[in-house]
Amino acid sequence: MKKILKGGRFTPDNYSDEIEEKIQKLRKQGMKLPPRKILRTPEQIEGIRESAKINTALLDYLSEKIVEGISTAEIDRLTYEFTIKHGAIPAPLNYEGFPKSVCTSINDVVCHGIPSHDEILSSGDIVNVDVSTIYNGYFSDASRMFMIGDVSEEARRLVQVTKECLEIGIATAQPWTRLGDVGAAIQEHAEKNGYSVVRDLCGHGVGLKFHEEPEVAHFGKRNTGVMLLPGMTFTIEPMINEGTYKVFVDEEDDWTVCTDDGKLSAQWENMILITETGNEILTR
Ligand code: MF3
Ligand code: CO
Repeated sequence: MKKILKGGRFTPDNYSDEIEEKIQKLRKQGMKLPPRKILRTPEQIEGIRESAKINTALLDYLSEKIVEGISTAEIDRLTYEFTIKHGAIPAPLNYEGFPKSVCTSINDVVCHGIPSHDEILSSGDIVNVDVSTIYNGYFSDASRMFMIGDVSEEARRLVQVTKECLEIGIATAQPWTRLGDVGAAIQEHAEKNGYSVVRDLCGHGVGLKFHEEPEVAHFGKRNTGVMLLPGMTFTIEPMINEGTYKVFVDEEDDWTVCTDDGKLSAQWENMILITETGNEILTR
């Protein structure tokens, strides 16, 4: 409980007295609470919602274009053009040196794959397409898996279980519960199915910046971590591996994250808003 307590009230200006009281009580008990700066005001939520709408429309648009034979560079071009046409900016482009507008991660690539003209989607591939949008200064972020042509039963099951991990994570992310509960629920489902959860990358707060607090681990222990309060917006984006959870970063491009054992990895991502009664998926 350090600097988050400075500055008195640390809640959005629309909290009811009831919520205020509940927070003050938890604060006295020493509960780990999120910093005020990541609790959104109604105006900010509206802005983030608008950004998320474009991001979702983009994923819907891409889902019709992603077929066997398309290059990931073409997916990048479509992403850039769609986003600009809607008065928005692709958040990945030039983000910490990332050279493209979208991340495309095929098979054993866990995340942050860089689109390329040499990379052609072929039958049997599973690919994650991760798009992020800046609109009016507000950030949104989501990704989906696509299965190309004839995909093996094993790969299908990985993609399906990973989707369930995201759904379970979202269902667990309730106000007044703790972030560790989310990670624990995801980890349990992945491991029950014989898979592992990537540790080195996590979900994140998003909205006013691309990446902000909290760090959303997709593994962990119940009843630990920061408490979820109404007004938080963050991603849940489990990366689930067939084999080991260990990963490495390609030395040549310094971005592409691959599984250590070369086995498959899948990922689904949504961005949610914690509300007073539950949560809302903003990237739906
Ligand atoms: N969309 C990715 C995420 O979920 C962004 C990775 S940073 C990038 O956080 F530069 F690679 F886009
Ligand atoms: Co993200």
